Amino acid sequence: MRRNWVEGKIAAAAALCLFAATASHAQEMPKLVTEQGRATLMVEGQPFFLLGAQVDNSSGWPDRLSAVWPAAERMRLNTLEVPVYWEQMEPVKGTFDFKVVDAVLEQARAHKTHLVLLWFGTWKNGKMHYVPDWVKSDTKTYPRMLSKAGVPIDVLSPNAPANMEADSKAFAALMRHLKEADPQHTVIMMQVENESGSLGLVRDFSPMAQAIFDAPVPADLMRALHKAGSGNWAQVFGDDADETFAAWSVSRYINAVAAAGKKELPLPMYVNNWLKSPRAFPVSTIPGDDYPSGGPTVNMFPVWKAMAPSIDLLAPDIYVPSSERYREVMKEFHQPDNPLMIPESLGFEPFPGASGYARYLYYALGDGAVGFANFGLDRLHVDEPLTGESLAQVEGFHLLGTFDRELAALKFAGKLQTAVEENGISQKELEFGIGASAWRALVSFPPSYDPPAAPISTTSDTTGLHVGRAVVASLGPNEFLVAGIDCRVQFLLPVHSGGKQPQMLKVEEGRYDGTTWVPTRLWNGDETDYGLNFGGKGSLLRITMGSY
Ligand code: DGJ
Repeated sequence: MRRNWVEGKIAAAAALCLFAATASHAQEMPKLVTEQGRATLMVEGQPFFLLGAQVDNSSGWPDRLSAVWPAAERMRLNTLEVPVYWEQMEPVKGTFDFKVVDAVLEQARAHKTHLVLLWFGTWKNGKMHYVPDWVKSDTKTYPRMLSKAGVPIDVLSPNAPANMEADSKAFAALMRHLKEADPQHTVIMMQVENESGSLGLVRDFSPMAQAIFDAPVPADLMRALHKAGSGNWAQVFGDDADETFAAWSVSRYINAVAAAGKKELPLPMYVNNWLKSPRAFPVSTIPGDDYPSGGPTVNMFPVWKAMAPSIDLLAPDIYVPSSERYREVMKEFHQPDNPLMIPESLGFEPFPGASGYARYLYYALGDGAVGFANFGLDRLHVDEPLTGESLAQVEGFHLLGTFDRELAALKFAGKLQTAVEENGISQKELEFGIGASAWRALVSFPPSYDPPAAPISTTSDTTGLHVGRAVVASLGPNEFLVAGIDCRVQFLLPVHSGGKQPQMLKVEEGRYDGTTWVPTRLWNGDETDYGLNFGGKGSLLRITMGSY
C-alpha cells in the first residue's frame, strides 16, 4: 500500500515535471542556431524546418485568410507567411489597431500552424504602397526620394530620420503587442519590410541625402569593408557609389526598425530580396530600374552584414525559370554567416519558361535551408482535381509534412541528404559514412518495375515534369529513413566490400506520431524488386539493410 503511494507520488511528480517541461518549451522563444556549420530554427526547444507557403498580398485579412486553410492542410504546412499592413495597423498616427493581427493569430492556432508575419512597412517591392495615408499625404514631414531634378518618386527617403522613426515606432508597437498576445509563440519569425530598396531611382538625390553622399564614408563601413584611407562615396566606391550608398541607407534604416522590434520581442528576423540577376550571368541589370536599389542583393551583402546586425539572415525570393540558376542562387545566399531560407518560391501556377519546380523544396532541404515557402497559396484550389505541377507540389510538401519534426532533427544533425531529378541525369548517388560500414543510396528516375537499364541512362525527359525526389537519412549504421516520390532507391555496399551483396532485411512503411515511428505495413515483392519503387504519391519508409 505504502509502496503504491510512493510510486503514485513519484509518478505524479514526474508527470508534473513533464507538464512543466512541455509548458516551458511551448513558451521558449523561437531562435536561429548554427552548430558545426548547420543552421536551424528552434521552435519549442526543438529543431524546426519551416515548411510553408505565403498567401497573396491582399490575403492577410481574416475573411480572406479563412479560404486558404484547406490548401494549407492538404499540403501539411507547418507555417503560413502572412502580411501585416502598416496602413491598416496604424490608421491614425500613434493609434494602433491589432484586430486583424489577433484574428490571424486565432486562425493559425485553430489550425495548429505557425506564422511568419511579413511587415509591409516602408518598402513593398521597391515602393512605399503600404505606408498609412497620413504618411503618404505629408511629404514635408515624411520626405520622398528625389531625382537629381528634384522630382519625387513613390518611395520614402531612407535618409530621412522621420521616416525611420515612424516605421520603427509602428513595428515596435506590433512586437510589443505580440509579446502580450502571443506568449505561446504562434509567430516564429518576422520578415522586416518586403523586397526593400527603391524602384525609380538608384538613390536619393535630395539635398539632404546629397550632403551625406558628399561627406566622407563613415569609418565603421570603411572598416567593415576593409577599405583603407578615406574619401567621399564617389571617391571610395567609384561606379558602385550610388548603389552602395543606397544599400548603406536602406540597411541602416531596416536595422533600426528591426532593433526597435527586437527590443520588445526578440524573434528571429530576416529581410527578403528581389534578385539582382534572376537569370544566369552575364545579364545587364540596372539598380533602381531592373531591381530595387539598396536591397540585400548579393553584391551588397558585405554592406548589409555590416550595417544590419539585428537582421538574422538575408533571404532570396526565387522566381527563376531554370533549375541550374535556382541552385546557383541558393549557393550565392547560403554563406557561413548567412543561413539559407527561401521565403518565396514559384508556387502553384505555370511560370513562363519553368517546369518541374516542385523539386525546389527538396533542393533547399538538401542544401540545409532553415525554411522554404511557396508564394501564392490562394491559387491552389484543393476542391478541384489537382494535376501537373500543382499536384506534384502538393505531394512533395505533404510527404515532408508527415514527419517534419523528425526531418528537422535529422537535417540539423547532418544525417540527411536529398536527390532530385535533373534534366538529362537519371541517377544520383548519395554516400553515407566511409569505409567498410558505408552505404550508398542510388536514386534513379523514373521508377520502373523492370531491371534498371545498364549503364546509366541519360534521357533528357524522363517523367515529363522532372519531379522525382528523395530524402534519405541515416538512422543508424544499417538503418535508413527514406521518403521518395517518382523514383527508385537502391542501397549498395561500398565498391570494395569483399564480394558481399547487400540485402534488405526489413522495409517498413509508416508515419511518425510526434517522434514515435508507427509502422503501417511491410514492403516486399514488386514494391522492393531492384530497389524501393516510389510512385507519384510518395511514401515514407524505414529500412534495415544487411549483407550476405
Ligand atoms: C515578390 C513579392 O515579394 C511578393 O509580395 C509578390 O508581390 C510577388 N513577388 C508576386 O509575384
